Amino acid sequence: MNDTIINKVLKGDVRELAGDLPENFFQCIITSPPYFNLRDYSEGNEEKEIGKESSHEEYVSNLVEVFSLLRPKLKEDGLLWLNLGDTYKNKMLMGMPWRVALALQDSGWVLRSDIIWHKPNAMPSSIKDRPTTDHEYIFMFSKNNEYFYDADAIREPHKTFSEDSKMKGGRNHFGKINGTPENGKNGGNSNLHDGRWDQAFHPKGRNKRTVWEIPLGKFKDAHFAVYPDKLVENCLFASTRENDIVFDPFTGSGTTGVVSCRHSRKFVGVELVDKYQKMAQKRINEVAAQSSIFDMISAE
Ligand SMILES: C[S@@+](CC[C@H](N)C(=O)[O-])C[C@H]1O[C@@H](n2cnc3c(N)ncnc32)[C@H](O)[C@@H]1O
Repeated sequence: MNDTIINKVLKGDVRELAGDLPENFFQCIITSPPYFNLRDYSEGNEEKEIGKESSHEEYVSNLVEVFSLLRPKLKEDGLLWLNLGDTYKNKMLMGMPWRVALALQDSGWVLRSDIIWHKPNAMPSSIKDRPTTDHEYIFMFSKNNEYFYDADAIREPHKTFSEDSKMKGGRNHFGKINGTPENGKNGGNSNLHDGRWDQAFHPKGRNKRTVWEIPLGKFKDAHFAVYPDKLVENCLFASTRENDIVFDPFTGSGTTGVVSCRHSRKFVGVELVDKYQKMAQKRINEVAAQSSIFDMISAE
């Protein structure tokens, strides 16, 4: 089974297929389940479709069930990245992402980070009695307190002593006249402990922050929100190495798979709706074929 499912999108309800997946197999899960009460994806699969529940309690408990079934399939040092947006009901913001996150925490997942995905090009809205929403959440969960996380792979440009910061003059700031950041690091200056040095001078940039500004993607064939490649890349680079296996239980148009294959990772997905399963498999086949041609050329 293990080899036959690589780079495949399996069709069906993830709760029914999860039992057949190999244990301790995936290095990470990157996924965006349907949001509560937002859209109708299915074509005759309504009773199996997550997001169509009549109450938010049922929605939360269905997602807890999915991720409890998937937990043994994730490696012990693996990570789960969960993208969720919120919904309103009778004028009331439901707080759905947090309801799900806290329920997953109660079920044993370690919640390590809540990331705001800020969409600078979010759809304009006609709302006049509250601010327009232009963010969603990405929750990062681990199975255990120790796990694989490559901070260097997703560092971002420094701000502290840059032009857009008020804290100019980095060298003098640490009381080292004519000193350099490098000799300051371990030069007995308690103001420049390793954490601060990393923050201000690490050659690869500062540690990734929890607000990610990423424009919405351009893929238009699907009838639902497709998350951008860049969002998947951040999660992928931080939590996998080449040839690791990535899983998406709600594959949709296949963004997680496409990005994984493009960056020499392996992928397994599940999708309930026939049309989307076919769309995703086609996109993944194309990228996987390109990657293997590239491998052949570079081996020559
Ligand atoms: C928000 S979309 C995922 C979009 C995806 N991240 C992308 O970039 O294309 C959620 C997907 O979950 C699928 N889905 C809903 N219930 C499901 C279930 N029980 N098992 C598997 N897939 C399901 C829907 O058909 C839909 O395609």
